[in-house]
Amino acid sequence: MFDHGIFERHSLLLVVGILIVVSIGGIVEIAPLFYLESTIEKVQGMRPYTPLELAGRAIYVREGCYTCHSQMIRPLRDEVERYGHYSLAAESMYDHPFQWGSKRTGPDLARVGNKYSDEWHRAHLVDPRSVVPESVMPPYKFLEETDLQFDTIEEALKANRIVGVPYTDDMIASARADLMAQANPESDDVAAFQKRYPKAQVRDFDGNPQRLTEMDAVIAYLQMLGTLVDFSTYKADAPENRR
Ligand code: HEC
Repeated sequence: MFDHGIFERHSLLLVVGILIVVSIGGIVEIAPLFYLESTIEKVQGMRPYTPLELAGRAIYVREGCYTCHSQMIRPLRDEVERYGHYSLAAESMYDHPFQWGSKRTGPDLARVGNKYSDEWHRAHLVDPRSVVPESVMPPYKFLEETDLQFDTIEEALKANRIVGVPYTDDMIASARADLMAQANPESDDVAAFQKRYPKAQVRDFDGNPQRLTEMDAVIAYLQMLGTLVDFSTYKADAPENRR
């Protein structure tokens, strides 16, 4: 039999031995997840972010909203009762980088979409304490005063495509028109836009139709969070949710 005493008497050998054993376990458990098609189950309703939502998401990341807000509802009773259905892996499949977060100074935002009106979000982002007197969230008034810069939106879609988000050539070519159409219900481009992005919400989000501001983008993003999968009909083991 193999002489186990060698490992017990030489601490360095023991460390090397442990590393080898642990890495075999790691490779066996983790490596297949990168190749298995079923690691992320397919779920009906998921679509890539619209250009306006993607721009709002970039502002969310830029402002560090994730340092206080998670976007990941754990399958624990208190969380599910407070926030709704626990988060599915598929709900973050187009997130690069994902926004799960690890700190909850404020509430989880994974299902905040459609919970409040646009007016509420506007008032809250301009001055959180005007609607939630005890809030410790900082004000972001400048969002409604800053025009949205979107000259690089095609590049943003292309970059997402490189890491696996299924943006088509058509979506990339129409990115600017789509971005403007989502905040302007009068636009002629709305029908084509909604065909490309089913269930996208189209309206003037910041209450100022004259301007397309960062507030428009952030609210468009917040209002879609958690709204794509219909949990009234979702069943984890339904055939259409499996591959
Ligand atoms: C310093 C921590 C902090 C930062 C940074 C922060 N928040 Fe908050 N947020 C809070 C707290 C605390 C609350 C709960 C009180 C309230 O509603 O204002 C909250 C509440 C919210 C809510 C309401 C959630 C609900 O379900 O009631 C939204 C939406 C929100 N924040 C969005 C944002 C966005 C967008 C950003 C970045 C632009 C941001 N927050 C940055 C702390 C923060």
